[in-house]
Amino acid sequence: MSVTVAKSAGFCFGVNRAVETVEKAASEGANVATLGPIIHNRHVVSRFEDLGVRVLHSPREADAGMTVIIRSHGVSRAVLEALQARNVQILDATCPFVKRIHEIVSRAEQEGSLPIIIGTRNHAEVEGIAGWCSDCRIFETPEELENWATGGEISSNAPVCMVCQTTSTEKLWKKCCEIAKKQFTNLKIYDTICRATEFRQGEAAELSLICDAMVVVGDPKSSNTGRLAMICREHCEKVALVDNASELDAAFFRDV
Ligand code: F3S
Repeated sequence: MSVTVAKSAGFCFGVNRAVETVEKAASEGANVATLGPIIHNRHVVSRFEDLGVRVLHSPREADAGMTVIIRSHGVSRAVLEALQARNVQILDATCPFVKRIHEIVSRAEQEGSLPIIIGTRNHAEVEGIAGWCSDCRIFETPEELENWATGGEISSNAPVCMVCQTTSTEKLWKKCCEIAKKQFTNLKIYDTICRATEFRQGEAAELSLICDAMVVVGDPKSSNTGRLAMICREHCEKVALVDNASELDAAFFRDV
């Protein structure tokens, strides 16, 4: 059996940056915490727990003098302000690609446009983006977008600005763009799909076309990991999504 490892396997730039921020802070002093798990990967999170890094679930849990790291998903303006009010040292590891989306929606609203976010409603990145404007609409599917756009709540010449979650698939985003372009005459579209994600998704698609089996390694709670498995399943019948090697079964690789 031959095994091909994807060139893009491993952490992306933004996650790497966040993980390194925690490593550096933990090595420099005690009383370090992350706001939410730094990454959707329990192995990394438990390694940091062993180093004494706490995971906070809300700014209210932050004690004065603590170093609090904001993860690559970013946070809303309200969460950032609540953290600033706690008298803590903040290390902002929001991925620059996510930060850019915060700036786009915030500016769009100031200029009178209604921001539309294509993404998973209760995902931390999307909640963070939505929190940089006072009013926006979030749609998870092209159908949801179309129903809203044609439902009479908004006129076709209203100023609208559309962005997407960095991990959205190219296919879903393109469909949403087609619908929005058909419906709105005063529309600004910002393609905010992260190229690291796109590259990895493209590689997953290419490999799944030529491989008999695909193994996607990652935390099942990560939307990146879930999307990769979904893309692989489009072309390959045998796809395993595993958190670690012990979850792999030798029988899975029979005849591949
Ligand atoms: Fe990673 Fe930032 Fe892209 S966190 S997936 S490089 S948006």
